[in-house]
Amino acid sequence: MIQPHGSDTLNPLYVQDAARRDALKQEAEGLPSVVVSSAAAANAVMLGSGYFNPLTGYMNKADALSVAEKMETAGGLFWPVPILNLLDDVSALQGAKRIALRDPNVDGNPVIAVQTVDAIEELSESEKNTIIEKVFRTADPEHPGVAALQAQGNHVVSGPIEVLNFSYFETDFPGTFRTAWQIRDEMAERGWSKVVAFQTRNPMHRAHEELCRMAYEAVGADGILIHMLLGKLKAGDIPADVRDASIRKMVEIYFPPNTVMVTGYGFDMLYAGPREAVLHAVFRQNAGCTHFIVGRDHAGVGKYYGPFDAQAIFRDEVPAGALKIEIFEADHTAWSKKLNKVVMMRDCPDHTMDDYVILSGTKVREMLSKGEALPEEFSRPEVAKILMGFYQAQG
Ligand code: ADX
Repeated sequence: MIQPHGSDTLNPLYVQDAARRDALKQEAEGLPSVVVSSAAAANAVMLGSGYFNPLTGYMNKADALSVAEKMETAGGLFWPVPILNLLDDVSALQGAKRIALRDPNVDGNPVIAVQTVDAIEELSESEKNTIIEKVFRTADPEHPGVAALQAQGNHVVSGPIEVLNFSYFETDFPGTFRTAWQIRDEMAERGWSKVVAFQTRNPMHRAHEELCRMAYEAVGADGILIHMLLGKLKAGDIPADVRDASIRKMVEIYFPPNTVMVTGYGFDMLYAGPREAVLHAVFRQNAGCTHFIVGRDHAGVGKYYGPFDAQAIFRDEVPAGALKIEIFEADHTAWSKKLNKVVMMRDCPDHTMDDYVILSGTKVREMLSKGEALPEEFSRPEVAKILMGFYQAQG
């Protein structure tokens, strides 16, 4: 199986030994504690899951700035996005060597991880802006990822962590949430070695289904990993349980058995376009995938990124050999009225835009809210039915 990023074996930060976990929980009772940001909690879940291998905890200021500037830590590890525990008020932590991190997303704020504090440093406004501009390619406060990072504090609390649980992901999505090692184990059980990963934060319509099939066939893969984001999204995006149900239905009906694994991971969406696409590739390599699909406007939002910027970054900025996973670049995919099937536009030079069935997200929402059926060329009827149920229940 493909090597994880940056090390020979995967080193997840979740404490697997129950006795050690109990001891840490007990220790945490006596430690200074702090409720962290949702982003820091999601980072803990990703570190705990092995997806952020080989990181051992939260980055310090030098690493964060170096990663933002040139996609590598001060020590030279290739990494695309700073992984931070940013806090506003650190007065309760002064002088503490060990601290308990409390989960903002679970009732009662239980401890999600214990951190050994290496340093508490302050980010200046200009340093924070540098990070924002490099990661998001904009400082526009209307950008949801920029707004989320701006809302976090300016104190960088760095150091290794030991993770005690997977926040709400394991309890809310027991059939879908998987760690990187669970995915690797399941692939081994299925006898898969060449695996194409599909990142998604949306329900899958016919274009997405076909995109997966095309990539699977083009690379001669043993299987497809549909790997959905289960964390926080911007207002108006479709909740994870509805996406999960519609994706499972589509896979059940339209893919042969043992070709697709439907899974999810616990992270909040950054909407960082190209940089997030690279992070996506890193953690799919950690989950054992050999190929990763990057299509149109991957991890994008609004008009902040060009439709294929998230492919260009792999060619122009990711150093050769930095990643072992290979990128499957997908062109805009849609139903062709001329050919009566889903195609990639680059394969149909004789088509004009009028030859395709294309519906915007806004149009899809509008139709479903009004109870109008989606065209079968756009969405499988079984998927459309689940989505309509959701929109109708919204009133
Ligand atoms: S993402 O933010 O998680 O990337 P989404 O779930 O919409 O968003 O997309 C999942 C993957 O499918 C991404 O790689 C995206 O680029 C790709 N994609 C979505 N729609 C299309 C399309 N019509 N044509 C080509 N690629 C697409």
